[in-house]
Amino acid sequence: MNRILMVCLGNICRSPVAEGVMRQVVNEKKLNATVDSAGTAAYHIGEAPDKRSQANARKHNIDISKLKARQFRVNDFDAFDRIYVMDRSNYKNVKALARNEEDKAKVNLLLNAAFPGKDLDVPDPYYGGEQGFEDVFQLVYKACSIIGEELGTIKNQKE
Ligand code: 4NP
Repeated sequence: MNRILMVCLGNICRSPVAEGVMRQVVNEKKLNATVDSAGTAAYHIGEAPDKRSQANARKHNIDISKLKARQFRVNDFDAFDRIYVMDRSNYKNVKALARNEEDKAKVNLLLNAAFPGKDLDVPDPYYGGEQGFEDVFQLVYKACSIIGEELGTIKNQKE
């Protein structure tokens, strides 16, 4: 089983998109995986994704309107196998909560799946315009597709 958690700061702009995109990839490729998302901060707990993220995702035929923001918790290290963070600040915050090396090893920057070793951030679109949300989608889509390919290869090896 591959339990995947997408993490950003507020869990209303970037990680809900990453959750929606990754779930679509998992469904399309019939992968054995579950997907969730969380934020390192508590500001937006219980809120639906930002309207601009919802609208952009809808444009790409992905419905994220029913998601609800929650905060990352230490238990997530047990509940998930892979924790993908959107930027280096999230990376620092999540790693700071790790209890041991096993926890730490689960945390990776999402964009390193697409651009290995580059340590690139998915830019926070919160204070910008609509283009920022499309940029987030394209970057996230690229990374999730590659993760999907990788999980598909693992699955086929096991069959
Ligand atoms: P996210 O974007 O981390 O992609 O969900 C943000 C959402 C809210 C805030 C910052 C970033 N905020 O400062 O409230």
